[in-house]
Amino acid sequence: MKEQTAGVPHHIAIIMDGNGRWAKKRLLPRGAGHRAGLKRMISLSEAIFERGVKICTLFALSTENLSRPQEELQGLFTLFREYFEKNVARLAEKEIELKIIGNLTLLPEDIGEIIRKGEEQTRGGQTGTLVLAIGYGGRQDILAAVNEAVRRGKEVNEKEFSSLLSTKDFPEPDLLIRTGKELRISNFLLWQSAYTEFYFTDTLFPDFSDRELDAALASYAARERRYGKL
Ligand code: IPE
Ligand code: IPE
Ligand code: MG
Repeated sequence: MKEQTAGVPHHIAIIMDGNGRWAKKRLLPRGAGHRAGLKRMISLSEAIFERGVKICTLFALSTENLSRPQEELQGLFTLFREYFEKNVARLAEKEIELKIIGNLTLLPEDIGEIIRKGEEQTRGGQTGTLVLAIGYGGRQDILAAVNEAVRRGKEVNEKEFSSLLSTKDFPEPDLLIRTGKELRISNFLLWQSAYTEFYFTDTLFPDFSDRELDAALASYAARERRYGKL
């Protein structure tokens, strides 16, 4: 029988790591790396949808990243504000629906407000869904779901548990890309990545090109997903 390979992923998730080291290499402040990363994030997400992917989840800020120095965090928050101000109209035009996962109460109040507006303005977009994970942690997501299940007082199965997570509206990622050399998941989609295919690259996120995206997609397309079966 012919081997069934994976084709185009329906859902790609990306751990956008390496902005700080990208800046350091150029003797620039870390914030310059984050700015370059944001610029790349915008063009990369468009390239991803152009290739027929329907959902793209980007890890922009982890729960643990919130313990970084205030100066860096304030710089990141300024970039988030800019991103939403400048890009929501463009996303709406391209029919890309924007969704946020993460604990917005950990962020400055105005950002929560801007995010809600961005989600509203892009609601129902048919091209695809761009999910930004901001103030997100996989363990925190699981723990919130466990506590909700306990509150409801009834045992849950896998499907019911998945529906208590912040990712309840999306299928699990097919392909997870991590840039920036590290070989770890750093508290990203822990429950959801049980059978996700991984692609790790040394490339620092601002340098991750469309060409390398195609290499990741080609690597994915050739894989055989078995889910533990024969
Ligand atoms: C990833 O880049 C972006 C965020 C975590 C906000 P880093 O800031 O972790 O960059 P490195 O890993 O220090 O190079
Ligand atoms: C993971 O990168 C989080 C994001 C890219 C948002 P980190 O830089 O925080 O991961 P560690 O600290 O190297 O594990
Ligand atoms: Mg990092």
